[in-house]
Amino acid sequence: MHQLAHGGADRTPMAGTPATFGQLLRARRLQLGLSLAQLAARVHFDRGHVSKVETDKRPPSVSFAEACDQALNVGSTFTTIATALEAAGRQQQGWVRPAQLPAAKRNFVGHRDDMNLLGKVLHGDEQSLAVPVAVVNGPPGVGKTALVVQSAQRAVDAGYFADGQLFVNLQGPGRGAAAEPFDVLKDLLRALGVPAEHIPADLDQRAATFRSVLHGREILLVLDNAADTQQILPLLPGSPGCAVVVTSRSRLPGLISLAGAVTLTLPELSRREAALLIRSVIGDERADADTAAVAVLAERCGHLPLALVLAAEHIVSHRHHSAGCLAADLKPEHARMELAAGEVVLRHAFDTSYRTLDEPTARMFRLLGLLPRYAINAAAAAATADVGQDEASLLLRNLADAHLIRHQDEHHYRLHELLRAYATDLTKHLDAESERTEAMRRAADFYLR
Ligand SMILES: Nc1ncnc2c1ncn2[C@@H]1O[C@H](COP(=O)(O)OP(=O)(O)O)[C@@H](O)[C@H]1O
Ligand SMILES: [Mg+2]
Repeated sequence: MHQLAHGGADRTPMAGTPATFGQLLRARRLQLGLSLAQLAARVHFDRGHVSKVETDKRPPSVSFAEACDQALNVGSTFTTIATALEAAGRQQQGWVRPAQLPAAKRNFVGHRDDMNLLGKVLHGDEQSLAVPVAVVNGPPGVGKTALVVQSAQRAVDAGYFADGQLFVNLQGPGRGAAAEPFDVLKDLLRALGVPAEHIPADLDQRAATFRSVLHGREILLVLDNAADTQQILPLLPGSPGCAVVVTSRSRLPGLISLAGAVTLTLPELSRREAALLIRSVIGDERADADTAAVAVLAERCGHLPLALVLAAEHIVSHRHHSAGCLAADLKPEHARMELAAGEVVLRHAFDTSYRTLDEPTARMFRLLGLLPRYAINAAAAAATADVGQDEASLLLRNLADAHLIRHQDEHHYRLHELLRAYATDLTKHLDAESERTEAMRRAADFYLR
């Protein structure tokens, strides 16, 4: 119940007795002779929503109250009450307004369409009772986390998710085990101010408590680096007003049907954006000194943000004096795997994806590194790996699901330049020379035929 003294008798046409927001809304609606459906149409919320607010089963959001003020011509009466309710709700004992989003990148470039799409999902549909869920997937280092943080910060800046933002790294795939939903829920509940002793010891109850605490609040939940769909399901809020954004290297099968998720696969940057990213890190002066070299360097980094950032750091830290120097050093493909800054090594980012593959899929990936730079299809892959075509199709699908290869059209796949270099490197180290020679001979036979 949202019992609130209503002191607006002189300023509004409503009765001045203490009433709830819902009672006041109902009184004003009846005074104007409107049905629930007519009011719903005027405020652009659905009838169920209006009815729940009128019966005080759902707290009014400020945006809903604004719509009521306008539709019912009562100045700012409802907005004032809803704002007070919201403030009171926030100050409830123990309620904490989490703000866990990392900072946006100063030099974020590109992905304008993806940002807009994500923004649309985040802003939700006022009339829907569903919780918007967006999934951003793509290969390691393509900028999934950066994009999501950028979009989330933008939404917060525009006034969305005023009750808080939660950000969790689900750690899958990483060096260790992926985070357990049971533990994650505990951290989330703690972040929302639930004392440790009130956190249930059972997964389902924990999830239910989490949904209850979120109920009626406008909170954004970012689940970064999800391992699989099972890991995410217990973490999903149940009430509209909340929204969820997930990043993952996997396609998270099932999430579309189970949670109505909108999926977005992030591509590498364009040539122009890639050069811009290098420039933004190394500065105009160094970039202007040799713009052609910057373009070559961007190309050798496969326009992949992680590689671009690492390369730019090499230059800034004077390990290479210019874009030209570094581009020359990166001419041999295997050298590109060693791009690193501090703890972050390009090869390790790829390793974490590669390690999730079963052996037949991993072998297929390594052997793809031996193929010429054509688009890959199941027949070529089957011949090279010496497996049946159905088996090859399945293995290629697995690789696409892990974002280690990308669909080019219905029958063809493409291997990103850097991932190709990585695969070539792997097969050199992990497969016997005879096996490689045989695979190359079979591939050559196939292409000659
Ligand atoms: N669009 C972008 N503009 C600028 N920097 C970016 C962009 N995308 C990614 N980066 C940088 O590239 C690196 C890898 O990005 P990240 O978001 O961690 O990739 P992912 O989450 O896909 O593995 C980070 O240092 C990030 O800041
Ligand atoms: Mg990430």
